[in-house]
Amino acid sequence: MVCERIPRGSQLPKIILDRSKLDLSYIPARLPHRETELREIAEVLERGTGPLLIYGKTGVGKTAVSRRALKEAAKSAGLRYAYVNCSRFPRTASRVMSDLLKQLGEGLPDRGISLYDQLALLENFVIESNGMIAIVLDEVQDLGDRAEEVVYSLLRLHEISLSPQLTRLIVIYREESVPQFLLEESTLSFFTRKLRFKPYTESQLVDIVRARAEEALRSGSFDGEVLREIARLTSKYAEGNARQAILLLRFAADIAEREGADALEVRHVLLADSIEHPAFDLSILDELDLHDRLLLLAAARVQARRGRGWLTMGELEEEYRLIAESYGVPAYKHTATWRRVKNMGSRGVLEIRRSGKGLRGQTTLISVRAPADELAQTIEAVLDRTVGKWPPRGLHAI
Ligand SMILES: Nc1ncnc2c1ncn2[C@@H]1O[C@H](COP(=O)(O)OP(=O)(O)OP(=O)(O)O)[C@@H](O)[C@H]1O
Ligand SMILES: [Mg+2]
Repeated sequence: MVCERIPRGSQLPKIILDRSKLDLSYIPARLPHRETELREIAEVLERGTGPLLIYGKTGVGKTAVSRRALKEAAKSAGLRYAYVNCSRFPRTASRVMSDLLKQLGEGLPDRGISLYDQLALLENFVIESNGMIAIVLDEVQDLGDRAEEVVYSLLRLHEISLSPQLTRLIVIYREESVPQFLLEESTLSFFTRKLRFKPYTESQLVDIVRARAEEALRSGSFDGEVLREIARLTSKYAEGNARQAILLLRFAADIAEREGADALEVRHVLLADSIEHPAFDLSILDELDLHDRLLLLAAARVQARRGRGWLTMGELEEEYRLIAESYGVPAYKHTATWRRVKNMGSRGVLEIRRSGKGLRGQTTLISVRAPADELAQTIEAVLDRTVGKWPPRGLHAI
């Protein structure tokens, strides 16, 4: 019986069904918003219409899409292939070549073979297989000053001998650290195709995270609001980066699971994000005046009490007035309060956004950028130390 296999005291996961689907090395069968790129790469590999140059910022799917295309094309077109991630062999040409040859089944001892000999072996292999091999060189930027030698050797292999050209060659680099020679026209002219992977938009990230959550999490344990929050925060810190979005989903799901929650909520996402990107150094409290501190405390208290991510300006003001009263200081009116909130937003102390359009129109939503209860306790301690419960008159002006 199934029940007997569950160790006593252990709990069934409520949220994460298959954590391996959240691994960065996992390549899902469906890659939303990369259908065109996948088709283009598949065509290059199947019909031999390359060489192809792929580039784009980090986390935009260059590796995942190319590997998926390679796997599928190798099967459908019966290709032998090698996928080499050059970042594993930084700045070494011969280790990249030996990995490549090993994967093609032409492995030789690492030591004692010059790059020249390795290229000769590859040439033979290309001739024998009549060019029906695919080579993907990923992360060539990590080869540093050796990148040019490796890439040129492969692009021009057929010029030295009579081997067919490597038309199923794909070179991938990360845009943030592009090697200079890959920008030069003399190099670019070797590539019959160039494909830039654009950063994902926020709504594309929602779809990507949704697809991943559907594979990894229990159905009903997350909702659209959670997914939108992940995409929004990702776009803020790492624009268009699916890797960051998936990491945030995983981190938030782990937090929710550990807490024993029934579902993944926005507050788990915010907590995961605030740990990932410590929003502000608590020492910033020293730079805030009394009323900013009271406002921040108000936001933190409401959030800690409710366990939900965002509060409205109205909710914040109500709590702020109560707290101000408890410290015996008159509260500011709406306009001055709003100015302070906005100012703390631009200093990164508070998070401010507009709500989606609802029946009552848009409203301003506010959230603290740190675990709410910890923050509330810290501010209370600071206030008790500096103000006390019964502050002297005139503190209003601090
Ligand atoms: N369209 C997508 N659908 C689902 N998952 C995706 C998609 N694009 C990227 N991912 C996932 O996001 C992560 C990062 O993608 P990938 O490694 O392909 O990025 P990259 O462009 O190669 O980045 P880098 O330049 O840092 O190597 C991977 O875990 C990948 O599976
Ligand atoms: Mg990559």
